[in-house]
Amino acid sequence: MGTVTFSASFLLSNFLLFLFLYNEVAFGNEVVESNRETLEIIIGGGGGGYNPFPILECPPPPPEPICPPPPSPPPPPPPSPPPPPSPPPPPPPSPPPPPPPSPPPPPPPPRPDPYSRLNAANIVLQRFKNRVKDDKGCTKNWKGKDLKVCNFTGIACANYPILDKKLAVAGIDFNGCGLYGDKKNLLLSDFVEELKELTFFHANSNNFTGVIPKDITKNPFFYELDLSNNQLTGSFPYEVLAATNLTFLDLRFNNFQDKVPPQVFNLDLDVLFINNNKFYDTLPSNLGNTPALYLTVANNLFNGPIPQSIGNAKDTLVEVLFLGNRLSGCLPYEIGFLKKATVFDVSFNYLSGPIPLSFQCLSKTELLILAQNQFYGEVPEAVCKLPNLSNFSLSYNYFTQVGPICRKLIDKKILDVRMNCILGLFYQRSEEECAVFFSKYKYHACPNPLSLKKVPCATNNHYSGSLDASDNQPIAVAPSPRSYDTLIPHRL
Ligand SMILES: *[C@@H]1O[C@H](CO)[C@@H](O)[C@H](O)[C@H]1NC(C)=O
Ligand SMILES: *[C@@H]1O[C@H](CO)[C@@H](O)[C@H](O)[C@H]1NC(C)=O
Ligand SMILES: *[C@@H]1O[C@H](CO)[C@@H](O)[C@H](O)[C@H]1NC(C)=O
Ligand SMILES: *[C@@H]1O[C@H](CO)[C@@H](O)[C@H](O)[C@H]1NC(C)=O
Ligand SMILES: *[C@@H]1O[C@H](CO)[C@@H](O)[C@H](O)[C@H]1NC(C)=O
Repeated sequence: MGTVTFSASFLLSNFLLFLFLYNEVAFGNEVVESNRETLEIIIGGGGGGYNPFPILECPPPPPEPICPPPPSPPPPPPPSPPPPPSPPPPPPPSPPPPPPPSPPPPPPPPRPDPYSRLNAANIVLQRFKNRVKDDKGCTKNWKGKDLKVCNFTGIACANYPILDKKLAVAGIDFNGCGLYGDKKNLLLSDFVEELKELTFFHANSNNFTGVIPKDITKNPFFYELDLSNNQLTGSFPYEVLAATNLTFLDLRFNNFQDKVPPQVFNLDLDVLFINNNKFYDTLPSNLGNTPALYLTVANNLFNGPIPQSIGNAKDTLVEVLFLGNRLSGCLPYEIGFLKKATVFDVSFNYLSGPIPLSFQCLSKTELLILAQNQFYGEVPEAVCKLPNLSNFSLSYNYFTQVGPICRKLIDKKILDVRMNCILGLFYQRSEEECAVFFSKYKYHACPNPLSLKKVPCATNNHYSGSLDASDNQPIAVAPSPRSYDTLIPHRL
């Protein structure tokens, strides 16, 4: 559905998409749903496995503007001179027809090649085809030139939006192709950076190796880079930091081993997926400066606390996955500023302390997953009143108390408090285990304990109603958030 829009007018729709998102971020309140649908176009954009972009099938029944058969647009200045020069309308009875004025056919001026951009790109494509091992035949039909290039599997064409506005190779989709190279080397260089009009490169589940070419960022229209589930190694690809028009960056499921440079969080991205690598060290303190709607740093080796700056993402962040790292310390109360967040998952870390009361301000939250940490204290009743919670998991921590509202959520199987230290409930840790924990941690205070009592939304707190509030909750339907899809290597 979204992809239809995509195919209708690739560059234009992206330009509009950009404006759309921009406006929603600027003015939006009630727009997260549509906003998110829009984004799913992008996330889905990287997807599709064997289902390449519809734009690829350029010449389907009624080819839309993408691949106009002969690019009629620029009827160029030198009009060919086939029609004889201005025949004077002959009067009917022309007695002595004079010999035609010797048509001097001027040498036809060399027609500008309407496919010059396609053919230049084709040289690069053929060079790549010759060095790639392609068991699945993704490049098999890469034969011919001119308009045929737009029929190659995985190739998307569009008119270059500036200058000559000629048809160009605008995107490549190798998702699921399993491409690899000689001696296990398949470099991106001498390929992507040579396609000067590229706007997206999707290569989920291939065996690309090495580094990301520096010049990839030279093209001003490049906006989506998906290198997920490849064999990229080494340090963080600093090359991408120069791609200031990038909106989608997906590096998940590679073998990067490095700190993550703070500049990543200053890129103007909608989507940032760096999960399932070996990134380490602390999360940069400017993490919350990211304008991304979807952020996954899950399943790396990050340690230290969640930066307080996360509160700066209050107007944009929709889903965030911190799970599966070595994060420690207490949850900063600034998380409670994330009024757009629907998914917040910090499970499987070494985080500690109580749940900040500010969490009752996470009014859109559907999934709140804090399982498998060292949290303790009372589960705040006000958090259990959040209207759209469908999964609130606190299992495998050291919580000691739940009030009546939270107990109702337990009955509804929304709240999971298994393996804590709550007296009188089933499936709790042993007294000994709890005693050991509390002898060690009880007075292990958070750095700013007073902040944990702050409720930033207190002035217009919609959730401080009666104890029955949770009775009125609709039975929440489990959502299917997009970010969890990033935790499997292949695109669906
Ligand atoms: C592209 O492929 C379609 C069939 O898939 C064909 O009808 C069309 O002629 C091809 N276009 C070119 C320029 O080769
Ligand atoms: C490609 O990568 C996959 C892992 O993603 C690996 O199992 C496979 O052996 C690699 N193939 C080659 C030819 O290197
Ligand atoms: C980003 O896009 C704008 C507008 O298209 C362009 O002027 C600018 O050069 C681009 N930036 C980069 C780094 O290419
Ligand atoms: C809760 O979810 C429903 C249905 O998705 C939605 O209409 C409503 O706006 C949500 N409430 C909040 C506070 O986000
Ligand atoms: C809640 O989320 C956790 C973590 O993703 C998952 O393991 C669990 O099955 C979910 N519970 C329900 C009831 O959906």
